[in-house]
Order: sequence, then structure tokens, then C-alpha cells
Amino acid sequence: MSSGNGPEQRPSDEQLAGMSREELVRLGARLDGVEIVNYPEPWPVKDTKAEKRAQRVIALWFVLATLAGLAFLGALIWWPSEYVPPSDEGHSLYSLYTPALGITLGVSVLALSIGILLYTKRFVPNELAVQQRTDNMGEGSAEIDRKTIVAQLADSGERSTIARRSMIKRTAGLGAGVLGLGTVALPVAGFIKDPWDDPNSPDSLLHTGWMQEYPGEIVYLRRNTGNSEEISLVRPEDLDAGAMETVFPFRESERDDPHALSVALKRGDNPVMLIRLRTNDAEAVVKRQGQEDFNYGTYYAYSKICTHVGCPASLYEQQTNRLLCPCHQSQFDMLQYAKPVFGPATRALPQLPITVHTDGYFIARHDFVEPIGPAYWERKS
Ligand code: FES
Repeated sequence: MSSGNGPEQRPSDEQLAGMSREELVRLGARLDGVEIVNYPEPWPVKDTKAEKRAQRVIALWFVLATLAGLAFLGALIWWPSEYVPPSDEGHSLYSLYTPALGITLGVSVLALSIGILLYTKRFVPNELAVQQRTDNMGEGSAEIDRKTIVAQLADSGERSTIARRSMIKRTAGLGAGVLGLGTVALPVAGFIKDPWDDPNSPDSLLHTGWMQEYPGEIVYLRRNTGNSEEISLVRPEDLDAGAMETVFPFRESERDDPHALSVALKRGDNPVMLIRLRTNDAEAVVKRQGQEDFNYGTYYAYSKICTHVGCPASLYEQQTNRLLCPCHQSQFDMLQYAKPVFGPATRALPQLPITVHTDGYFIARHDFVEPIGPAYWERKS
């Protein structure tokens, strides 16, 4: 609002106090050099069928926004988001998780926007006005300007008839509320811990497929031959000095279960590197405190998941006894409990405690004693 017009157009404080809102609106327009050419009522005849129909259409858009917002919240909470391999049942549903979130949130935003646009078009008066621009000489607004602008805003609100359109107010409030809840839930959901989560479950982030599912269970080291149903266990004599082999867990209870055999080869935290050091190199090994008996002679087993951001770190250089992660070139010294000696990784690769069973095959003595892969917020090591 400008106060740049002549003082002769300005009413006194007493006159101002006695003016109706409509008079204040017109005064405000005049002071701003605005000429209202046309100021029609959108619905001059109240409660016509057309008006009610317009109201119902707008309410329908807000209801759609509410339903889509609820669907978004439902998908965020209940849609199966855990990875399912393409060969397994449930993969299609899993692969639709992200599209389901995107579509429901998108429809909710779109429907709410269309409802607001339609309301503005159908119920807010569209006056035709011409205004001269002024810069107000850098001064703040005078009392008269503040009062007239408030009157204009209140007048617009009243002329939009929003106050008496409870159906639109309720549906719009519901749609906006649910959408707001969804947009808050989206970033917050990742930080909420599942209260039913069992930290001792094999599926917990604290455990891998190497965890014994009952005391005394034998978990063998198994190689991947390309056929998940072919069980090929590993014996010490299978590896030459200086050789490395990637191994996965195998338990007898899974022998006749193709699904479990396949999952054991695909589960992200299962791959382990079994390394046989050369005898001379093995004499120089520095073991990690508390893990002095995790190796079997010159055989050492480490998680293959890089502790930087989780790539498979599997380029083993026999001459230097270093393991290279191809993603960002972290190097781990296999003669010093796989601690990082170059690159962005800051944590040693977790070591799997191994031994040889009475039948001559390698087995894991128990699960890793620390989380594998990149750090996460509950990691204590
Ligand atoms: S993931 Fe291995 S260095 Fe980055």
C-alpha cells in the first residue's frame, strides 16, 4: 500500500474509525491509485444448484487428496520394502514400493492443488483493477495503509465465502493435514526403530547369515559354483598359499531347501573372503586384540563388504598382502587384521572366526563380533 497521495484525500482518525469495511476497501484502493473497474460477486444468487455442484467438485478433490495421503502413509508403513531377489516370490510387490510412494504422494499433492485452484477460480471474486505503482519513498507503511490493507484482505476472505463453506473447509483441512503428516513422516520414518525388532534375530543388522540359529549348529564355509543347489564345501587343502576364495554360509538344515540355499548366496552381508597367507607372511601377522584365535593356522576369513560404503572389496594382491576395494580405492592390510592403510575406509574389515570341523571342512565358530559393512548409528565398534 502506498501513502503517496495528497493529504486532502485522507480522512481524519475519527472518520477512519467510523468507516465500514467496504468504505475502507474503497479508500485503500483510492489511496493506492487503484481503480476498481469491475468487482463482481462470483455467485450473486446464493445456494443455486450450480454453486452447490461447484462446491461438491472441489470437496471431491480434497477428499481424493486425503485418500491419496492416507494411501501414502499406509504404503510407507506396510508396503513390503525389504529386498526380494527377482527370482523369488514377492519381488514384483517389492519392486513397486518406490512407485507406490511416489504415485500416492504425487496424487495427494496434485489433488490438493487442483482443489485450491478450483476454489480460487470459482469462489474468490475476480475484480478487474488498475493500479499505479509507487515506491513509497522508502518509508514504512502508515497506519492508514495498514488498516486499509487489512480491510481489503478481510473483504477478499468474506467475498470468497469460505467462512460459510464448511464442506470445503473440512475436506481441504483433512487433505492438507494428511498430506502434511505424510511429508513429515517420510523423512522421520527412517529414524524410527521397529519396536518389534528382535536384536537377536538372524535378520537383525547386528547379525549375518553366519549366526548360529541354535547353540552348537555347524555353519560350513561354502563356495558358489553358479548353481545354488550344488553344495561345495571348502577344505584347507583346496587353497594354495597366497590364494583367496569367496565363501558363503551353509547349514545342513538348508540342504533340501532351494530357496534357503539361494538366499544364503545372495544375502548382502554373507560374502566372506577366505585367504591362505604364505607361511613367511603369516609369521609377520599382527592380530587384533581379543581376536587372536579367529584364524585357522595361515587361513584368515574377513567380511568382503567394504567398511567405507559397502562395495565388495575383493581385489587381493598376493605380493603386498593388501586388499583393494575398487569403488574408492581403500586398501586393507591383511597382515594387520585387515585394517585400512589407504583410502576413505576408516575401520578394519570384520574377521570371521573359523576352524576346521572333524569332517575336514571349514566352519565358522560363530557370527562376526561386530557389524559388517559401513558404519550405522548404533555401531559401537
Ligand atoms: S566402498 Fe570401498 S572404498 Fe568406498
